[in-house]
Amino acid sequence: MLVQKLDKILIVDDEPEIAQALKLYLDYEGYTTSLASDGSTALDMLLNAKDYTVVLLDISMPEMDGITVLKRLHDSGGDIAVIMMSGHGSEELAVECMRDGAEDYISKPFALEDMLLRVERACTHRRERIEKRLLQQEREDFILMLSHDMKNPLTAVIGSIDIIREGCLGTVNEEQKEYLQSAIDSCNEVVIMIDNLLDIRKFEAGKIQMTVHPCNAHELIGKIANQFARPARHDGIELTVDLEAGCSEVIVDKNAFTRVLGNLLGNALKFTPEGGKITVSCRHICEDEVRRLEIPTYAPIPPDFPEKGCFVKLTVSDTGNGIPADELERIFDRYTQLTRKSGRERGGAGLGLAYCKLAIDSFHGMIWAESEAGKGSGFVILLPCCSNDNTTKQRRGIK
Ligand SMILES: Nc1ncnc2c1ncn2[C@@H]1O[C@H](COP(=O)(O)OP(=O)(O)OP(=O)(O)O)[C@@H](O)[C@H]1O
Ligand SMILES: [Mg+2]
Repeated sequence: MLVQKLDKILIVDDEPEIAQALKLYLDYEGYTTSLASDGSTALDMLLNAKDYTVVLLDISMPEMDGITVLKRLHDSGGDIAVIMMSGHGSEELAVECMRDGAEDYISKPFALEDMLLRVERACTHRRERIEKRLLQQEREDFILMLSHDMKNPLTAVIGSIDIIREGCLGTVNEEQKEYLQSAIDSCNEVVIMIDNLLDIRKFEAGKIQMTVHPCNAHELIGKIANQFARPARHDGIELTVDLEAGCSEVIVDKNAFTRVLGNLLGNALKFTPEGGKITVSCRHICEDEVRRLEIPTYAPIPPDFPEKGCFVKLTVSDTGNGIPADELERIFDRYTQLTRKSGRERGGAGLGLAYCKLAIDSFHGMIWAESEAGKGSGFVILLPCCSNDNTTKQRRGIK
């Protein structure tokens, strides 16, 4: 008895005998099949119909060949499984097809039974891929929902502890104040983690809303660094803020910039042992100096980074554990945390630097890390100055 299968297959071949034989065989096996005799017709069918699950794609066809169709399909982001067919097969060609996203590759002539096995395997792999993706999506949605819902009660907890710490409900001694403050600090760390997670997702979905304005870099940096003076003192770390005279304006979203610097200073505190030093410095530099900077090769210059004009160079350096050279690029990926033998680590989720990178990219700036394991780390941010020619302002709709 014929069991009708759910998978819909498009057979693309300019040789009608092969296409017809495949169609008859797969129809007999219960698949729903259609035919296309050239690349562009196939592409139209695949992109418009959306319900094809597998395509058997001949490589050499006139006008649009199979490789081009494969690449276009891949770029369109669909999840159709592609089995490439070629009469002039070679190992290199097979490798190229797989690299471009093909599921499988078969050389002509082939036995129809062999093709059937490959089709069945492609259908199974595709289903497993989709199930895995859906599961991953569900997990991420759940984490996002939970994180979002945790923020309000956490903010209420912080508020209540603060009222007690301030002495509004009765006298609190210095030791009690210390404990209450560290409870507030821990809650704040979780709030920052949640904000990083939610915003990274918004960046990825293209739904982040940045309100950029010209801001005085020194004023902003001074204010943020000031907030870290108490925790630095508490941890026995010397925090120095070195702002070069003369002020420069940068075009940033104040909240996002505050969080970027907060993440960097938070990291510096977390990874610097007692007795260490953290320095925040800010300088005004011009394009010639930017060219002379030793920007690491792993930090490619973003396409929106201006070639000319002046920049604010902000550095947060510490005398902490440092980061091994081969990890400097990876630490900007989300959920990356390096394993350490010792140190005063305080958890975290590995999201802070991923947020920093996305935020700085959105300001048309760039960020990278410099470090020597065991000798401390430095995080460098370059932001275009507002005083640059008006193109920067115009590009961002600022009058
Ligand atoms: N100043 C630093 N010194 C040494 N290692 C650092 C420093 N900053 C970052 N790192 C390394 O990079 C990793 C990623 O940093 P990131 O800020 O993204 O995550 P996190 O601080 O571990 O967690 P989260 O920021 O989510 O609380 C850290 O876990 C640490 O291994
Ligand atoms: Mg961090």
